[in-house]
Parts: sequence; structure tokens; C-alpha cells
Amino acid sequence: MDLIIKNGKIVTATDTYVADVAVRDGKIVMIGKDIQAEGADVVDASGKYLLPGAIDAHTHLQMPFGGTTSADSYEAGTRAAACGGVTTVFDFVIQRKGQGLVEAVEGRRQLCDPQACVDYAFHTAITDLTPAVLEEFGASADYGVPSFKLFMVYKKEGLMVDDGVLAAALEKSKETGTLVAVHAENPDLIDRRIEKLLAEGKTSAWYHYESRPEFVEAEADKRAIHWAKAFNAPLYIVHLANKEGLDEVTKARDEGYEIYAETCPHYLYFTNEVYKREDGRNWVCSPPIKAQDSQDALWEGIKRGDIQTVATDHCPFQSYEKDWGKDNFTKIPNGCMGIENLYPYMLSEANKGRISFNKAVEVCATNVAKIFGCAPEKGTIAVGADADLVVYDPNKKFTVSKDNMHSDVDYTIWEGAELEGYPVMTFSRGKLVYKDGAFVGQPGWGQFVKCHPRQ
Ligand code: URP
Ligand code: ZN
Ligand code: ZN
Repeated sequence: MDLIIKNGKIVTATDTYVADVAVRDGKIVMIGKDIQAEGADVVDASGKYLLPGAIDAHTHLQMPFGGTTSADSYEAGTRAAACGGVTTVFDFVIQRKGQGLVEAVEGRRQLCDPQACVDYAFHTAITDLTPAVLEEFGASADYGVPSFKLFMVYKKEGLMVDDGVLAAALEKSKETGTLVAVHAENPDLIDRRIEKLLAEGKTSAWYHYESRPEFVEAEADKRAIHWAKAFNAPLYIVHLANKEGLDEVTKARDEGYEIYAETCPHYLYFTNEVYKREDGRNWVCSPPIKAQDSQDALWEGIKRGDIQTVATDHCPFQSYEKDWGKDNFTKIPNGCMGIENLYPYMLSEANKGRISFNKAVEVCATNVAKIFGCAPEKGTIAVGADADLVVYDPNKKFTVSKDNMHSDVDYTIWEGAELEGYPVMTFSRGKLVYKDGAFVGQPGWGQFVKCHPRQ
């Protein structure tokens, strides 16, 4: 045995109990009472919770976007992840025009492998769905990347696909055990609204929200769900932020369709009021953060199970880059940070009684692993699973500040957030990578996680 974590209150998506967890060669090999082993490192977790490491289903590390590259490298982003109790990240590979799917992933792996501080998996964002690429869905799944994102927006950026492509991808996904995810917003509506707002001299961050309000997102959610239903294909809606779209997800799920929805911590914590701030551009992301009624609906959706995952969409930019849009919201690079805040925030909400700890584990870890095919190795505490573990002190009070975060970005939208409880240790496959506020892991430790296609 290499490591024994003793007397922690183990929380999985379904159970809560006190026990010891023993780890050998990066795997959980025993769970029980009074486990003894000569030579093993022993961690006393009495009075603490022992949780599975979170899996961030949605990150954009070192990604060319918005006229620049997102500010966290793989090293910085996964270092921050480790310090926030995230032990696996699903990052997006952007397929370049003419590029094959496996080729795109292999290129990205060369960047990640030497830098990753925690394990990583991929979704591929398909921008050029040629017949050859469609035929490669199965090969991508066999390689370990069985999930694809399609952008229903970002026309000018060259990322958008049309409904024909979306329909073809959904049909193919059914055949190949893969999963299509969508960024749902209506691009034509956005373009018209931007044109009008700029012509009226409405240029502040608030007008980012006004250019893509609730109904702009809801229409695209409904359209994507319509196509998924038509082909009876599973669909995953990323970063869902509006009530009307969620209502459609709920309806489709009630009808028996396999529709999944993800939301993000910034949609759960902030409302669109942030865009009225002088520094409102720091919260500019797409879809934008919506009004209070949407936020309330998202929390209810999590509680009901109609939202299955909470992931960060971590895509930060430095303040000088956000400043490009001081006088014109269309020039603000879109994206916010959250990789280090996801788990502490959701667990703090559990600690305050809004949801159970089991629910926080379910939406931040277990469901992600199940939906994207890295269960049973990831996402829970069980014999045979990877020893991706977080020791959490429910009594530690924590105020988020740029100075106690571990990413490379020069500010945080979470500045001043007061959390009840905080992770004190993170183990990645049994190796301690974070302890008491400090990163203690190393770049290159993280491994590529080969996800399984759906059955
Ligand atoms: O504003 C965002 N969300 N930036 C990252 C790219 C995306 O749309 O997910
Ligand atoms: Zn998106
Ligand atoms: Zn994203």
C-alpha cells in the first residue's frame, strides 16, 4: 500500500460514510475500517470530507480565440485545477479546416503532455465536417475522444456550423456511440442586434448582454433539441444559461429523450447586473450571464436532475485583453475563469445547505465521468477507481482573491466571494498535488484519459 487516508467522511453521488481509503499504484484498492499497512503514507482526515476529484467537463486552455490566445497555458490551467480540487479536465481541441479528427487531437496532445499537472481528456470542436471527417467519428472514439462540440455561433470566427451539419453529426453520433455537444445561440439574431446597438452608440459591456439576451439562446436550445429528437440522438448542451432553454430540456427529458444540460458556476453565482459595472467586460462570455429568474431556474434544474453537470467553460483573458473592448463590447474577448472555483463554490453551496454534498459530487464529477465515458475509472470513490481524491475541510472559511488563486491571469471575477469550507488536499492518482493553499504537483504528471464510446 502506498497511501491510506483515514477516517474521512466519504461522499459519493449516492453515499456518505466514514471509512479509510487505501491506495496502491494510483488506484483505490481498499475501503474499510482500520486499514493498516506497513510503510504507507498515512493522512488523518478525521473531521474532514473525502471526495472524488472534480472533473471539469469544459475548459479552453491555451486556445486561440477572440483575436488572442486564452491566458492559461495547459500548465497554469491544470495547476489551478489541482488547487481547486479538479483532477481531470476536458479541454477543447479545435479542428482546423481540412484537418482530421485524430490528427487534431494528436497535435493538441503534444502541447498538453509535458504541461498537464492533472489528467486531461478532450472533446473536439468540429469546424469542417467533410464526408471524411464524418467517417472518422468511430476512429476518434476508438482513440479515446468520443465527444464533439458544434458551435451554432461564431460565424465570423469561422467556427460555426449550420443546421445541416448539426443534423449529419447527430445521425452519425448514434451509429458510432459518440456524443454531440452544442454551443446554442442564434448567430443571425446576434449580428442584427449588434449592428443596431452599435449604430445607436450603445457600446458598454451591458450591450453584450443586450445583443444576446435569453431568447437568443433559448431559440438555439430549442432548435438543437428539435434535431436531436428528430434523429433520436443524444445531445449535450454546453454552458446552458437561460430558463426557457432549460424548460425545453426538461420537457424533452420528460418525454424520454437523452438530452443533457451543463451549466457553469458563473451563471449560478452572478446575474446580468455584473455587466452594469465599470469593469463589466471581465464577465463577458457567451452565452452571457442572464437575469435572476434564469439563475433561480438553473438551481432548480440542478436539484431536479435536469441539469446533469456543472463545468467552468474556463477561458480567461488578461485584463489588458479585456480592455480592448472598453469602448466597444464586440472587441472584448469572450470568456471567464472558474477552473479553481468550480468545486469550492459548489461544495460551499452544499455546506450552506442549498444542495447536498452528494449532489455537488454528482454534478461536478460522477455525471461527467458517466456521460463522457471515463467511468468507472474517474468520478467516484470506489475500489478499482483512480485515486483522484480531495480532502475538504468544511470549517475552513475562504475568501477568493487573485492572490490566492494559481492561474496565470491577473484578476479573477470571483474576487471577494466568501466560501464556507475549502479543499485542503488534492491527490491525482494517489499523488499529492495540492496542500493547504500551495500547488505541490508537477507539470507532465497529468495523463491523457482515453474515454470510452457509449454503449
Ligand atoms: O465566452 C466563451 N464561452 N468563451 C469560450 C468559447 C465558448 O464559446 O465556449
Ligand atoms: Zn461555447
Ligand atoms: Zn466553451
